[in-house]
Amino acid sequence: MALKMFSFAPTPGQSKADLHADLTAAALALTDGEPDAVANMANVAALLWEFLPDLNWAGFYRMVAGELVLGPFIGKPACIRIPLGQGVCGTAARTAQTQLVADVHAFPGHIACDAASRSELVVPVLRDGTVIAVIDLDSPSPARFDDDDARGIETLAQAIATRI
Ligand code: SME
Repeated sequence: MALKMFSFAPTPGQSKADLHADLTAAALALTDGEPDAVANMANVAALLWEFLPDLNWAGFYRMVAGELVLGPFIGKPACIRIPLGQGVCGTAARTAQTQLVADVHAFPGHIACDAASRSELVVPVLRDGTVIAVIDLDSPSPARFDDDDARGIETLAQAIATRI
């Protein structure tokens, strides 16, 4: 088995479209042929952290027996279980719709895992039409995420859906 060091990194000054394309390509390369879901989510969380500036939390919640359970992430320790429909993550999971929240204080029921969080992007990961996980990104900056980020992370979610 080849043991190797990975060096995936964003290119300074690249467009956001290129950044997201490179992020998804890196995620596909890192998870290629690896069947372990935890390993793959851990590496994708690390890539999200590496590629996307101005985050204070990046990672996964997995759908387990009808609720969201914390998965691999980078950031402060977070709440472990989130019922469907609660918070930004639970809303994304219940509706199967991306949640782009410019101001978390204005989102009814937002769950504050890190008091520094000001904006949040949560993208459901669907396999065969069913939500199996969500990707959660938090930023200490208000309105950190836009529609391009949402589409970019949706593309990533689709790309890795069979590998997590
Ligand atoms: N803010 C999320 C909870 C998860 S933490 O941000 C990591 C929510 O409202 O669902």
